[in-house]
Amino acid sequence: MYPLIRNRRLRASESIRRLIRETTLTPDDFLVPLFVTEGKGIKEEIPSMPNYFRLSLDNLEKEVKELWKMGLCSVLLFVKVEDKLKDNKGTEALNPNGLMQRAIKTVKNACPQMLVMTDVALDPFSSYGHDGIVAEGMILNDESAEVLAEMSVSHAKAGADFVAPSDMMDGRILTIREALEDEGFTNTGIMAYSAKYASAFYGPFRDALDSAPVDIANVPKDKKTYQMDYANRYEAIRETQLDIDEGADIVMVKPGLCYLDIVREIRNDVDVPVAVYQVSGEYAMVKAAAEKGWLDHDAVMLEQLTAIKRAGANIIASYFAKDFIRTLG
Ligand code: PBG
Repeated sequence: MYPLIRNRRLRASESIRRLIRETTLTPDDFLVPLFVTEGKGIKEEIPSMPNYFRLSLDNLEKEVKELWKMGLCSVLLFVKVEDKLKDNKGTEALNPNGLMQRAIKTVKNACPQMLVMTDVALDPFSSYGHDGIVAEGMILNDESAEVLAEMSVSHAKAGADFVAPSDMMDGRILTIREALEDEGFTNTGIMAYSAKYASAFYGPFRDALDSAPVDIANVPKDKKTYQMDYANRYEAIRETQLDIDEGADIVMVKPGLCYLDIVREIRNDVDVPVAVYQVSGEYAMVKAAAEKGWLDHDAVMLEQLTAIKRAGANIIASYFAKDFIRTLG
């Protein structure tokens, strides 16, 4: 009790603060999302994601070499699919020579040790912008999971280390695990987007991939029949435990900042690594406020990233990975 205890003694200098700091960020914490597009020499800035780009394969190669040099060791690949290749069943997702499959090979050739994770969901390939197959105004569950499993095998064949299903269909982790086992990909891991909420923070990402759900009669224009209601907490635990039972190696909570209560709850509850996705809208907000001079970019970024780790994240998927490395000097 005061005056015997004065908590400010432990805050008196940067050295004592460093000595007792509970949470520190390192390059090892980061998983770097990358957007890949068809073409050559392309590095297009995404308007709602300042300083983040869609890269053609030649630039993807340069980028991963640079990331590796900076100390970053894992990437999460997304592809922007040409409109003419989109259909309701995500047929192009299974093309052994599709953009994703070539992107995986490009990264592995450029930088064999770089851990490659791939997005597994139909939305970038879907003419409807949904994560599954649409029929009679519904997003079909089991039929979609089958395609996701084939997609996962196709990514594994191309050399992916982990597949990351981001679709929220029921039972897809088991379907994917069994397909990978059947095809001999016993070492290919699964990072499950386990507690993925129907969030308005995905807007800039959907711009980046041109993957937003479209207006069609009788088809919902949102993803609320598969992504979770952001009002719910216990459901996140159930989803996560089921994914682990079905064979997920890593589980994920998404988005980040608004869901740190869920992150802590899950971290306390499970014994597999927990990833957090700090999503595109979270990135865009910081960039926009900083551009206006309203917030200090690096200070706010570090506070948010540290909060994500403090909440229990073992892996942070973040568009700020390179910005973070820059702050290390
Ligand atoms: C789609 C997918 C989304 C994100 C990752 N995978 C968007 C969505 O569910 O609509 C969002 C990532 C971000 O906003 O940064 N399966």
